[in-house]
Amino acid sequence: MRAQVLIFLGAPGAGKGTQATEASKEFGIPQISTGEILREAVARRMPLGLAAKAKMEQGELVPDEVVCGIVEDRVSRTDCRNGFILDGFPRTVAQAVFLDDMLERRGLGKPLVVNLQVESDVLLKRLTGRRTCPVCGKIYNIYFSPPRQDELCDVDGTPLQSRADDNEGSIRRRLEAYERQTRPLIDYYRERTLLHETDGNREPPVIARDLAGELRYS
Ligand code: AP5
Ligand code: ZN
Repeated sequence: MRAQVLIFLGAPGAGKGTQATEASKEFGIPQISTGEILREAVARRMPLGLAAKAKMEQGELVPDEVVCGIVEDRVSRTDCRNGFILDGFPRTVAQAVFLDDMLERRGLGKPLVVNLQVESDVLLKRLTGRRTCPVCGKIYNIYFSPPRQDELCDVDGTPLQSRADDNEGSIRRRLEAYERQTRPLIDYYRERTLLHETDGNREPPVIARDLAGELRYS
């Protein structure tokens, strides 16, 4: 793989988390999900979580300096030496500029940016149908990839949960925030010839296989 750093870009529900998990296994580099790190900080009542909780529940973005700090911290760990996968970061032009600078400082080279394209009516169904296992983190969808037993994790039998921000009001605001603050990143990376467009409407394993092939030879 040419790039050591892989970025998954896409609207809420586009499948960033699903594909980042697969790519992390495929390439043996860690997945860094800013959303996951923030949710964990909220669950553990850490100061970071207390500051971010209201914004996340409302479906608004957490301030740039907070998430940039999270990413810099995480990337400093030794397991990121050979590269990493970003899921949910960057999300604003300011975050993308910060990331460019950080990669240069660390001598990590240019990232490869995968944009997952999915229509908005499909996004809505994916978000309202999403369920996650609080123990192993596996992501399900009651419409597209239900667990074998109703609302229970296939791996460990734990009752599945819905995310606090997967309600109608928050979903609408997350989609608005995406349009206003994150969509401009498509042009940002296209202009830098780092963008790889992919059809995110296909089955998750089909997308993953396609990407693995393309990325391995890019
Ligand atoms: P975050 O956790 O990043 O949420 P998001 O961007 O809204 O994205 P999602 O996790 O909802 O969707 P996804 O694209 O990962 O899809 P998934 O694979 O789960 O952020 C949450 C909040 O944290 C933000 O609102 C913000 O407040 C804050 N935050 C985080 N990062 C930030 C940043 N950088 N700056 C500022 N604030 C930040 O899939 C969704 C569902 O669809 C699942 O049920 C899945 O099973 C299903 N699915 C996936 N792929 C497919 C497919 N191909 N076909 C059918 N179903 C599929
Ligand atoms: Zn589980």
